[in-house]
Amino acid sequence: MDTLKFAVLPGDGIGPEVMEVALAVLERAAESEGLRLEPSEADAGGIAIDRHGSALPQETLDLCARSDAILFGSVGGPKWENLPPKEQPERAALLPLRKHFSLFANIRPGLLYPELVDASPLKKERIPEGIDLVCIRELTGGIYFGQPKATRDLPDGDREAIDTMVYRRSEVERITEVAIATARGRKNRICSVDKANVLETSVLWRQTVTDYLAAKAPEIELSHMYVDNAAMQLARDPNQFDVILTENMFGDILSDEMAVVCGSLGMLSSASLGTGSNRHGHRFGLYEPAGGTAPDIAGRNLANPCAQVLSAAMMLRFSFGLDPLADRIEAAVRKTVTSGTRTGDIAFGAQSVGTREMGEAIIKNL
Ligand code: IPM
Ligand code: MG
Repeated sequence: MDTLKFAVLPGDGIGPEVMEVALAVLERAAESEGLRLEPSEADAGGIAIDRHGSALPQETLDLCARSDAILFGSVGGPKWENLPPKEQPERAALLPLRKHFSLFANIRPGLLYPELVDASPLKKERIPEGIDLVCIRELTGGIYFGQPKATRDLPDGDREAIDTMVYRRSEVERITEVAIATARGRKNRICSVDKANVLETSVLWRQTVTDYLAAKAPEIELSHMYVDNAAMQLARDPNQFDVILTENMFGDILSDEMAVVCGSLGMLSSASLGTGSNRHGHRFGLYEPAGGTAPDIAGRNLANPCAQVLSAAMMLRFSFGLDPLADRIEAAVRKTVTSGTRTGDIAFGAQSVGTREMGEAIIKNL
């Protein structure tokens, strides 16, 4: 019997309760296929600061290194907001995890089912068929990690801070490769987003993407867009995009915009894939919902668990090569939320149910 060995880092806020649902769904789905799950839980984020004095303890890193994938909840919350920025859970847990495991490829599907178009702030006429696009964000380079990164006092009494945006051609090529693979499974269109009218890194980005596509995937339709225009176009007509390919910070901003346009953060999953492969010959990766810890509703059985469940499905797809099983979970989520069973944060008038009840409904629809 095949064993799926993965690390579970529920984190803070709604993390643990939505993780519980995702694990229950995974368990039931795996059981029906004769697969054995071996989830191992560890602390990360605020809870790890409280228990171990570090947002990303060595034991947690070691556990992740022994696993084939990481299923991640969310980290952070008001309790840790007064810590110095560098020690806050988001920066001290998530960013080092990404860097440590070279999780350079962040895949965020922007999906709004046609039945739920009312959940989007966009006018229905603009998205009659719902929304379906994917944002491919470079995750371990650019201004997030470039050196120097520092704050210093100047001789004249002023104070300055510096972040460095830097990209190598090879970093752009490997994320372009992921965008190509994604586009090939969709409509064969990539829109590369940059700021090549201002930034040197963007000039290199645009040239590299152009050359790479010409050499490796000439059948794919490639367009380029400045990031300010892309932000506007996403709000105007999101379905003009198939695959958006962009660098770290632009992807951070555009993927949040994509999330809100798609109606509910509680529905959006993500995968962050690494360079290496796991024991199954698939990519090692970290899978997390796009939303945060939602401290205002944490512990109240109100959170929408769908993004966590869909992230678990992405884990089956990318780190374990179990596409049919991932498809089944995605179909069960879709069936559940489009049949009127929705949690409060995407309910808009339909009868709304709690986190656990939502999980039970998804399992029933598997
Ligand atoms: C995201 C988040 C993170 C990021 C934060 C929490 C560091 O906003 O995953 O989009 O900026 O990458
Ligand atoms: Mg973000």
